[in-house]
This record gives sequence, structure tokens and C-alpha cells, in this order.
Amino acid sequence: NADNPIGIDPFRTVAKELKFLAQNVRGLLGSGHPMLDTVSKYYTQSEGKYVRPTLVLLMSRATALTPKASRNVLQQQSKIDQPITSPSILSDRNPDAPGYRPLTASDSDANYTYASAGTDILPSQRRLAEITELIHTASLLHDDVIDHSEARRGAPSANIKFGNKMAVLAGDFLLGRASVALARLRDPEVTELLATVIANLVEGEFMQLKNTAKDEKHPVWTEDTITYYLQKTYLKSASLISKSCRAAALLGQSGPEVVEAAYTYGKNLGLAFQLVDDMLDYTVSGAELGKPAGADLELGLATAPLIFAWKDNYQLGALVGRKFGKSGDVEAARSLVAQSSGLEQTRALAQEYVDKAIEAIAPFPDSEAKAGLVEMCEKVMKRRK
Ligand code: FPP
Ligand code: MG
Ligand code: MG
Repeated sequence: NADNPIGIDPFRTVAKELKFLAQNVRGLLGSGHPMLDTVSKYYTQSEGKYVRPTLVLLMSRATALTPKASRNVLQQQSKIDQPITSPSILSDRNPDAPGYRPLTASDSDANYTYASAGTDILPSQRRLAEITELIHTASLLHDDVIDHSEARRGAPSANIKFGNKMAVLAGDFLLGRASVALARLRDPEVTELLATVIANLVEGEFMQLKNTAKDEKHPVWTEDTITYYLQKTYLKSASLISKSCRAAALLGQSGPEVVEAAYTYGKNLGLAFQLVDDMLDYTVSGAELGKPAGADLELGLATAPLIFAWKDNYQLGALVGRKFGKSGDVEAARSLVAQSSGLEQTRALAQEYVDKAIEAIAPFPDSEAKAGLVEMCEKVMKRRK
């Protein structure tokens, strides 16, 4: 392998942890209500990319050898892996109800096992990785309702399979369980960070309801157009990644410089990740993505490739103003983007952010995990789904 001549796999150590992650996430989602149990675990069955937990685990390991600070937190590591389930609420269930299944031994708190690969990652950091996946999956359940999406990870989306009501409620349930797990970390600063992420996700979605700061029929391109888009992108994507990287460093008792570097890495990687996501929506087929392609224009969204194309094509303003709602708008916008340098500019901006992410962690001592964080940057730039 030309990229990796000495054959070190930077993911090796976290790959072991990831094997247990999906199982532990499902462990956090047990409900005695069989339908809620099914819907809330639905997206955990298909193999996600686990980008956020991978970053948390890599950051935990990469910061393990950096200078420590003493923080005034009373961490009760022993309580973290206690079961969080509510198996008994439907003890008098109606066996004729749809989705009925008898309670099994695995529904019982007593049989709950918390699995880990037993590496030097702290239980609190491992649990944080699971919490990031829960919050992310909750946002996908809600997002697919908002976007009327029909597919996710190569299968029918939860809203299609179970309907909007159950999809929204399951998302709320995931946030509830994420909150319980977060509370059990007994770290107020980390709790505040992740609670802020949940608020930020909603703020990002609200910003995205409009393409520009002002609601105009004929918006004119200004530098504020990009600023608004990047602020939205931070809130909807980079906030979770940056704040969870920060939280990983905090849980490891890292000193302030390391905490800040972890955050800067996550923020820049998160922005690059979403820029690439917005580019792939134009360049990759739905079959390859496992979700509908070209969806953003259909949803009325002006993302980076279009915003860059708009800078050189003022006439796109009218289309942005009516959210590509007139017949022929989507096709016209798509072809102007294709003729412009919008996709190249999007990729170049993503590369700038990735470079900043790598620069942020440069002072960390060299380790496999640090190499893994660098490789995550390369993966973000190379990914096709
Ligand atoms: C995917 O974006 C969605 C997000 C990154 C965040 C969605 C956030 C909410 C719906 C806010 C409320 C939810 C919670 C849990 C607080 P996308 O639609 O661009 O990507 P896609 O192509 O994968 O659907
Ligand atoms: Mg969507
Ligand atoms: Mg969306």
C-alpha cells in the first residue's frame, strides 16, 4: 500500500471498540414498548459510517498522552456502565396488538452487559462516543421527516417504514436516552457541551429554512451569503463533531490547550465533512449514496456549489429567492452549477478546512490515534458516500 508503506492501521485500536459500539448503542435504546423498541433501533441495524464515534475514540486516544489538568469533577466511572432500560412498562400488554412480542431475557436490566475492547479509552469516553451516535441518529430520524426522504443507508427511511409520527417520537426517545447517559457521566461541562449541540442542530435546521439571512424575492450575492451558509453548516454538522471532540479531551482531563486543539480539529473537520456532503449531492448517484441524490435543489436549498456558481451568475438569485420552485428551476440551476467552478471551489474550501484540522493537532505527540485523526481528514476528502 503506497499510502501506508509500513502497514500500520491507524484504525486498528478503535476498530475493536467500534465492534461493540452498535451493540452498546442498542443497549441504551431498550424499551418495553415493542414498537418503540423497533423504531428507535431501526437506524442502528444498518451499518452507518460511525464518523462521530470514531472521531471521539481516536481523539480520546490521541489526547491520552498530552499534558493533564486537574478538573473539579467528581466522575463516578463505576456508574457509567449501569443499564438504562425500562423493560417492564408493558407487563400487561395485549398479545393481539401489532408488533407484540413476549419479553425475553435480554429485556431485563439484570442481563445487560456493557461490552468494550478493554483498551485505555476511559469508559466515560466510550460512552461519549455512543452518545454522539445517539444524537446523530436522532437528528437523522427528524431530518428524514423534514426532508420527506425515502431512503437512508440503502434502505427505506424510518418515516417511510413506520410513518412520520413514530419516526419523530423515536428521535425524541433517542435524545431522552442520550440525556440519561450524559447525566451519568457526572461532568457538568460535558453535559452542557452536548446539550448545546442538540440546540445547535435545531438552530442550524431553522437557518436552513431560508437560504439567506434576509427573506428576499431577488436576493443579491454578497460575502454574507457564504457567511450565512457556513454558520448554518457549523450548527447543523460541525457543532456535534467539534463539541464531542472537545468533550473527549475534557473527559481525559486534558489541559486547556489540548482541549482547544481538539475543538479546532473537530470544527474544521466538521465543516469540511458537510461541504463534501453538499458536493456529493451534486456529483454522486443515489444508488451509491444510499439516499436520494440531487435532493438539495429539490428541497429548495442553496448549498456551497450553488452559492459559488451564483457569485458568477447573478441570474441564479431569482431562483434562490423562489427556492427553485418554478418548473425548470432545478434543471437550470443544476446546469449552471455544472458549467461553473462551484464544485471545484467547494472541494478547495473543504481542503482548506481539512488542512486547518490537521494543523490543530500537529503539536500532539505522534501516535497511531493521531495518524488516525489525520487519516479521517483524508477519508473525508476521498469519500463517495
Ligand atoms: C442531515 O442533513 C441532518 C442534519 C445534519 C441535522 C438535522 C437536524 C435536525 C432535523 C434538527 C432536530 C433534530 C434533533 C435530534 C435535535 P441533510 O438533510 O443535509 O443530509 P441527508 O442528505 O443525510 O439527509
Ligand atoms: Mg436530509
Ligand atoms: Mg436536511
